[in-house]
Amino acid sequence: MPRVFVARQIPDAGLKLLYDAFGRDSIVVFPEDRIISRAELIAGVKGVDAVLPILTDKIDGEVLDAAGSQLRIVANFAVGYNNIDVPAATARKVPITNTPGVLTDTTADLTFALILSVARRMGEGERMVRARQWPGWGPMQLMGSDVFGKTLGIFGMGRIGQAVAKRATGFDMKVLYTNRKPLDTALEKQLNARYVDKATLLAESDYLSIHCPLMPETTHAFGAPEFSTMKKSSYLINTSRGPVVDESALVKALKHGDIAGAGLDVYEHEPTLHEGLYDCENAVIAPHLGSATLETRGKMASIAATNIIARLRGERPPNCVNPEVLD
Ligand code: GLV
Repeated sequence: MPRVFVARQIPDAGLKLLYDAFGRDSIVVFPEDRIISRAELIAGVKGVDAVLPILTDKIDGEVLDAAGSQLRIVANFAVGYNNIDVPAATARKVPITNTPGVLTDTTADLTFALILSVARRMGEGERMVRARQWPGWGPMQLMGSDVFGKTLGIFGMGRIGQAVAKRATGFDMKVLYTNRKPLDTALEKQLNARYVDKATLLAESDYLSIHCPLMPETTHAFGAPEFSTMKKSSYLINTSRGPVVDESALVKALKHGDIAGAGLDVYEHEPTLHEGLYDCENAVIAPHLGSATLETRGKMASIAATNIIARLRGERPPNCVNPEVLD
């Protein structure tokens, strides 16, 4: 029987598929509910046929070599796979899979939760009420900014960006987007979205929401030069990956009022935030919850398990990001 290493407890839906396919004794789940250390990861993968890491586990050449040449798949428990050195895996002929599709709407929902929370100052209001410091209704109290009718800028118009655009129509928002290439005209029409360059997106958006993958080209795509050309009344929303934003420049922009606020789910050095961010009242800071619903995390677990099962049975894993290793 093949051996599978699961680097963190995941929903039962996925584990059950693995147990049914290979028997309980073939599956080792890292027993503690915390991020596995590098040494524990290297020890855990030794001699296994499949690894199921989560997005905080760095899978590079060293880890792949520690696993050994019998390793047949790494099935990431995430749609983003910037935690994996794909060229290193490709060089070793190891397929990498991700979990696309199932978390699209869940992440788009959280994006809107952040837009609404930061615009309507929900975090500040909640903190005031919980501190028993609410003096009662006031005509000038915690005035925020409208969302409906405003301009939403989407940076990265893939599945999640499009799902965010779809939600924006319900808020009568004008939607602009920047992407590597424009969508086809029919889809643009359906989403009521207009393709613009990055400079226009920065200059015109009231809410600018990031939905690109993290790659060398998108690292620090938002920093001081970008914040200086955004409207002072605008908000930055990030549910993609932290390093797309230069966090230290963002803190400066938030403190100097270069932009009005930020709704963040991801950070450059998770779980640590830039020290200045903790006391930015105009930032809503969530703990990387994009895909965190019972339904979606269950589906992600099933997809990761399905990819492993397919590969170990000699079939094509359905969500391979480096399919050239399968040919
Ligand atoms: C979550 O952040 C994911 O990439 O799935």
